[in-house]
Amino acid sequence: MRNFLDISDLSSNELRAIIEEAKARKKKRENYNKSAADDDKPFAGRSMVMIFEKPSTRTRMSFDIAVKQLGGSSIILNPDGIHYGKGNETLKDTAKVLSQYVDIVMLRTSSHKHLEEFGKYLDIPIINGLSEQSHPCQIMSDILTFEEFKGSIKDKTISWLGDGNNNMSNSLIEAAGKFNFNLKIGCPKKYSPNKKIISWAKKNKVNILVTTKPEEAVNNSDCVMTDKWVSMNDKVNQKQKKKNLRNYQVNKKLMKKAKSDAIFMHCLPVGRGEEVTDEVIDGKQSVVWTQALNRVHAQKSIINWCLN
Ligand code: CP
Ligand code: NVA
Repeated sequence: MRNFLDISDLSSNELRAIIEEAKARKKKRENYNKSAADDDKPFAGRSMVMIFEKPSTRTRMSFDIAVKQLGGSSIILNPDGIHYGKGNETLKDTAKVLSQYVDIVMLRTSSHKHLEEFGKYLDIPIINGLSEQSHPCQIMSDILTFEEFKGSIKDKTISWLGDGNNNMSNSLIEAAGKFNFNLKIGCPKKYSPNKKIISWAKKNKVNILVTTKPEEAVNNSDCVMTDKWVSMNDKVNQKQKKKNLRNYQVNKKLMKKAKSDAIFMHCLPVGRGEEVTDEVIDGKQSVVWTQALNRVHAQKSIINWCLN
């Protein structure tokens, strides 16, 4: 039984195995209906509980479909509708009770500590479905998508534009270390990656460049990635932050600095006309809809990894 909280918790071999299993399973079911189960139904007779402290479209849908494809079932809980560490029940007791009913938990939370605390008390695995610190399931899906379009990610160059200090950029930095790709982050100084992740990157010899010049970050890149300028957990002056990040918008002019066959990625939801123009996100280089689909495939192997 294993928890999936952060990319940095797993070895490169384990992460690679998750991606390869996702590729193989996806290929095997090419002509199947969207919710039809895989032939081996490894999750048959088992179920997942999903708890969302924050809104979600992709994570909610893709985990539900993932579990169905593995032959199991899922239940979505709203933290306001259950005891979840409130009223007369401690988080520990809620965790112990859930462990009696289901086989795995997925939690989206505003506080990474909830994942660790809940994980400590559960007798079953827990998966991080986004916290303010990291979004490992999204980045694993994005590795799968990158490799579908561009082949092995090893030694390729990925550019990250905009907010360099959010959950997505943290998980991307960890992935750069584990999958050995080059990472160039273009962001204002104020939104640079935090000290903790930079020291992890140094210790793990990540090939990372942080620059305030967007063109330098994108130059000769295989993939340009960005994310919402204001994340769900950001308690900031939104107008000011958007103004500060204006020069980091991914538009046609900036995309031209990347390789001519570079892809554009975004985890969604998107701030159209803010971090990216319609022309880029709806253009030929964009792979954002495959990214959304691949959440299903990557998460299926993450669930299998947790249970095996
Ligand atoms: N990308 C992603 O996690 O989307 P949701 O917030 O819709 O789950
Ligand atoms: N950084 C974004 C990711 C959304 C999937 C957020 O936390 O809002």
